[in-house]
Amino acid sequence: MARFPFPSFPNGWFQFAYADELSPGQVMPLEYFGKQLVAFRGDDGAAHVLDAYCPHLGAHLGHGGRVEGDTIRCPFHAWRFDGEGKCVEVPYATRIPPTARLGCWPVIERNGLLLVWHHAEGKAPEFDIPELPEVGHEDWTPYRRLRWKLRTHNQEMAENAVDRAHFHFVHGTMDVPTSEAKAEGHLLRVVSKSKMMTPRGPIDGQISSVNHGFGFGTVRFSGIVETLLVTSVVPIEGEHVDVRFSFSVKKIGNADVTRGVGAALIADIEKQMTEDRPIWENKVYQPRPVLCEEDGPIGVFRRWCQQFYTAQPPSTHGALAAAGAAA
Ligand code: FES
Ligand SMILES: [Fe+2]
Repeated sequence: MARFPFPSFPNGWFQFAYADELSPGQVMPLEYFGKQLVAFRGDDGAAHVLDAYCPHLGAHLGHGGRVEGDTIRCPFHAWRFDGEGKCVEVPYATRIPPTARLGCWPVIERNGLLLVWHHAEGKAPEFDIPELPEVGHEDWTPYRRLRWKLRTHNQEMAENAVDRAHFHFVHGTMDVPTSEAKAEGHLLRVVSKSKMMTPRGPIDGQISSVNHGFGFGTVRFSGIVETLLVTSVVPIEGEHVDVRFSFSVKKIGNADVTRGVGAALIADIEKQMTEDRPIWENKVYQPRPVLCEEDGPIGVFRRWCQQFYTAQPPSTHGALAAAGAAA
């Protein structure tokens, strides 16, 4: 039995870097969705993602490619490509072969993140990612960043939020939290309420999460301290995901107090990740799970998930994107 019997890599927006990791003139090799990709930021400030392998003789543009203006030059024979993947110069030829083009991936910059649109059939973006009011606001701290490579799948990680019983048995919450999930198109909103232990005794804590497809999500914690967690999960090949968690804490008291309270919550999330990890990395996905009535909104979650898959092999992305751009 395949561990993850899903028909394609999921469609959606996925973080490939933080915005400040890619400065103008910089080139970055990427491996996501089972593909080799290259990211670069032109001197005009716009970030681009292209298929990495040069259509000429196959050099990887992420290793030795150089940015010139808003284009990238191949390290092998110096063919030059624009941000849409079109070849704009072959320095030793008079005629540019018309099919000289790299697959181009839509990119947006939001909330300090760079995100790429993946669609298994190369379709254009079907939704947007909103600006978050907390990010960059003077009352909120800059991101604290955590990153993991995990042997699991986007859908498996996302299912955690609606799997209320595991919070008690895996993470040791005082009770089994209540959990309500609502699907609105590409959005899934989940609200969980639970008793949280504090040095001053138990209080009612609330966790509200919004998933924008499988790649980008927000989790807002209230109860002890208001915290925003931006979650980012990207498929690497079929077996692993690249996970980035970015925390911002609402400032309270002086900087030391904020840092202390924020650090406690972040440590707790790190602990939860350590607890979830051995389960995720070794479990299989049960397409027809045997559930009990108290299991919570797992059915709502799984129906929402279906919209992000295309029953097409994912290998056609670049070719179809290029064909679409040429048409
Ligand atoms: S392989 Fe890229 S220019 Fe020849
Ligand atoms: Fe968990």
